[in-house]
Amino acid sequence: MPMSEKIRRMGSVDEALDSPEIIKRVQEGILSGEVYVFDSGIDRSLLERIRKYLTSIGRNSLPTYHAIEAGCPNFHRINNWDTRSYVKGCFHQFSFFPWNDDFFGLFETFKKVYYLKNLISGLPKESFLSMVPEQGCAARLSFQYYPTGGGAMNKHMDPVDRHQLTVPTMLLCRKGEDFSQGGAFFIDDHGETVFIDEYSDWGEVTFFNAQMVHGVAPVDPHKERQWEDFNGRWIALFAVNKLASTQGISNSVDLG
Ligand SMILES: [Fe+2]
Repeated sequence: MPMSEKIRRMGSVDEALDSPEIIKRVQEGILSGEVYVFDSGIDRSLLERIRKYLTSIGRNSLPTYHAIEAGCPNFHRINNWDTRSYVKGCFHQFSFFPWNDDFFGLFETFKKVYYLKNLISGLPKESFLSMVPEQGCAARLSFQYYPTGGGAMNKHMDPVDRHQLTVPTMLLCRKGEDFSQGGAFFIDDHGETVFIDEYSDWGEVTFFNAQMVHGVAPVDPHKERQWEDFNGRWIALFAVNKLASTQGISNSVDLG
């Protein structure tokens, strides 16, 4: 597996935050197409509580959608191959913004992952985490549930610009237990596909170049899909998004 040689297992997020050398090395590696897996140090029991909490919200309230603007509410939505999306997919997404409060103080809980994302992207560590957008962009912490029975996201590239180099993702599940087939993949410059979930576990965070071709292959497509059972692939996504009204940053590109 040639690509797996490009995946580097690192220590903890804490350790990296204390080391300008590690950050520089990871930044250079990501620019040259390497993928890094860090341990967030966040307890699995806390992540399980968060997943249960999101499941209860998902089951007991209507999905809805809000455009990303300053002061917009947290919300959850189902995207079932919505033709309006820049990248087509099939998943349930729960989005949180730094200006709203929530049960778990999610931005406080996960802030170190954003710090590392910002530093690797060459930005001050606190960027985009305040109560107001900066440079037309804001942090959006999203939890995404890809249901068994075909949860997926088309292969695509995300924009690299003034707001980010990398879009970290954290597993809130385990391939082999929560699902057995599909999940996140990358395609390297030799056209080799690698299923990254097989190299990572609960609470681990993967950093990669947002412009690298990636996607989510259908999760257990042989099973029946039942959105309401919330079984499948769960992740946290540490996004920084432009506001709906912001110009000058390109959109993600769907590659089918
Ligand atoms: Fe992406």
